[in-house]
Amino acid sequence: MKWISITLVVILAAATLFAACAKKDKLAGDPPALETEALAEAMPATTAPAVAPAPTAAPDGKTLLETRCTKCHTLDRVHKKKTDRSGWEKIVAQMVKNGAAVTEAERQTLVEYLATLGAK
Ligand code: HEC
Repeated sequence: MKWISITLVVILAAATLFAACAKKDKLAGDPPALETEALAEAMPATTAPAVAPAPTAAPDGKTLLETRCTKCHTLDRVHKKKTDRSGWEKIVAQMVKNGAAVTEAERQTLVEYLATLGAK
């Protein structure tokens, strides 16, 4: 008869241990859910500054050429022209006189880019 009570005690102990583990697992599973929530809340604040500067970034030479130099004629005119940096400086200055909307800083970017296209 004694072995039965020993078996019972062992089974009980095992059951209690199992229950305790299951409870612990559940408890351990909760905090990560809370952490991700807290992270999701913190995310917009940390990612916003990285996204903001993009629209204010200065356009590159290619973009400038495609947007500012196609109002009056196609880029055919540009691609047919073969000249060096100073040649492009004169042409861009002439185009600004013609009415091209290009700022002083953009003019430099544009000339740099054009010089790589029409170098001879
Ligand atoms: C306001 C209208 C206008 C805009 C904008 C314009 N052009 Fe022109 N472009 C002209 C006219 C008009 C001519 C022909 C007469 C002349 O050379 O001024 C011309 C001619 C040219 C020629 C031929 C010149 C030659 O010597 O063979 C090139 C190259 C050229 N443009 C490049 C550009 C570039 C690069 C831009 C952008 C910065 C641009 N154009 C923007 C009006 C414009």
